[in-house]
Amino acid sequence: MAMLLAQSALPARVRIVEVGPRDGLQNEKQLIPAAIKVELIERLQAAGLRHIETTSFVSPKWVPQMADNAQVMAGMSRREDVTYCVLVPNLRGFEAARATHPGEIEVFGSASESFSQRNINCSIEESIARFAPVVKAALDEGIRVRGAISCALGCPYEGDISPDKVAHVARLMKDIGVQHVAVADTIGTGTPCKAQAALEAALGIYELADVSGHFHDTYGQALANIYAALELGVSQFDTSVGGLGGCPYAEGATGNVATENVVYMLHGLGIETGIDLEGVIEAAAFISHHLGRPVGSQVSRAFLARCES
Ligand code: HMG
Ligand code: MG
Repeated sequence: MAMLLAQSALPARVRIVEVGPRDGLQNEKQLIPAAIKVELIERLQAAGLRHIETTSFVSPKWVPQMADNAQVMAGMSRREDVTYCVLVPNLRGFEAARATHPGEIEVFGSASESFSQRNINCSIEESIARFAPVVKAALDEGIRVRGAISCALGCPYEGDISPDKVAHVARLMKDIGVQHVAVADTIGTGTPCKAQAALEAALGIYELADVSGHFHDTYGQALANIYAALELGVSQFDTSVGGLGGCPYAEGATGNVATENVVYMLHGLGIETGIDLEGVIEAAAFISHHLGRPVGSQVSRAFLARCES
């Protein structure tokens, strides 16, 4: 009975934004052929993912793994009901991205001044000034715009980050027209109360439907943080197939929370996702096989071990 009461307070449906092809692969040292990335995207959309971050249009000197962005965008098949999102740091990136017809772009700022400098080589204020014309250009063309607020729960250089800083960046993003924000635990140090405080800061600026959680799982807290977010009514999360991921400018940060772990938990809570769990596990096995290592998530490992026995 207690469980039913808890469930009824949670959202009935959750939207997963699959970030594996971008956040998941960007930190891989060995260059992955575009054809493999395309195949991964195909498998993810076949498994029911309807919002996919496919690549980024950043400097190839900074993130060589994403240099094949246009090839990936040209190679994958498009479904009408899937939103294809790409990361864009500046107008140059937007011009290149626009030619590949994304449905959405993501600008990425930070709640931490030091991380902003390391990740995009400018201050928070400068980043917003850079994003403003990008956001305008995208919206003028009918391309949706989301924003990521990195280091919202902690920073590799500054340590604790106060929710005020999250609110500050959310306000700046809102003022330049960013339609949706993802509150990001870049280094995965956050715990549930911290996650709620950071999300509440963003919710002071954005509507509930316009806020997502983006949790890396470095300290194994991501599922707990997602549950804490669900309790606030947040119903959109960025996740990465196989738990791939890490940011090149956040030393030691490991993968995003695994899509299959999140889907397993949500389905167990009676929350709809529209996602076929086995399809995601197969996609995780596919990319792990290509990377030459065992699949990173507990749900995939448990499922695959059961199949082999
Ligand atoms: P910069 O060096 O300050 O900028 O980099 P610049 O304007 O002086 O450009 C340097 C060189 O890059 C020039 O080339 C530019 O033309 C070129 P050169 O003249 O030396 O030959 N360039 C570009 N090339 C392609 N596409 C572009 C572009 N812009 C400049 N768009 C810059 C500034 C922002 C470009 C750089 O810092 C950068 O690309 N940073 C990206 C870092 C990144 O991708 N980090 C990972 C993604 S964020 C993330 O993972 C966090 C997230 O998941 C949420 C979370 O978990 O926190 C979203
Ligand atoms: Mg990330």
